[in-house]
Amino acid sequence: MKNTDFLDKLNARYATKAMNGEVVPQEKIDTILEAIRLVPTSSGLQPFEVFVITNRDVKAQIKAIAWNQAQVTDCSHLLVFAAWDTYTAERINHMFDLTNKIRGFENEGWENYRQMLLSTYPQKAAEENFQHAAKQTYIAFMAAMTQAEYEGVDCTPMEGFEPEALDKILGLHEKGLRSTLILPLGYRDADKDWLVNLEKVRKPMNELVTVVD
Ligand SMILES: Cc1cc2nc3c(=O)[nH]c(=O)nc-3n(C[C@H](O)[C@H](O)[C@H](O)COP(=O)(O)O)c2cc1C
Repeated sequence: MKNTDFLDKLNARYATKAMNGEVVPQEKIDTILEAIRLVPTSSGLQPFEVFVITNRDVKAQIKAIAWNQAQVTDCSHLLVFAAWDTYTAERINHMFDLTNKIRGFENEGWENYRQMLLSTYPQKAAEENFQHAAKQTYIAFMAAMTQAEYEGVDCTPMEGFEPEALDKILGLHEKGLRSTLILPLGYRDADKDWLVNLEKVRKPMNELVTVVD
């Protein structure tokens, strides 16, 4: 039997263009955040943080630097994904120490892997490290969008904002973070949403997949 549950969710979700301001219950927000927490990341470093914005004034400030996209203020909760601005020894050690604490043992192979990362990542240019960390936020972004669909919550994936301006609004520089993505979560305003009834457009499989037998 074909399992299409996940595919059905991917088909049903869409980049909501208008939201009605209705508040999303905290339990739903919590499962969306848990999906973000559970995503796999390179070396398990989880090199990002997520900010949950419900404050009206802060949302309004963000809208002004996000192409004035209405969902930023008409959403219930605005998620901001922010990646580490670089990899430091402290950040790497924190995640490896946490692994040892949670698993309750140390392992030579794992410790060797820690040393390998410590001898490579922190020495690289901050921008290169940030770009690597930023990629990890896209994994979390997709998990958040899909879990939102399972919760019956609409959302709009957004890169359409000025990251440096957003970093200033949230004081991310001081936290060693840089914003990468934002995700308004809320409920559609179907009457005002030009996309809600349009067919989903995706290229055909033969333009996407090449099989090498
Ligand atoms: C990384 C990313 C950034 C996006 N940025 C915006 C944005 O700033 N504003 C917007 O309205 N839609 C944005 N979109 C939505 C895409 O245009 C939309 O996902 C795509 O056209 C497919 O349509 P669908 O999501 O409705 O299936 C973004 C999507 C992704 C994945």
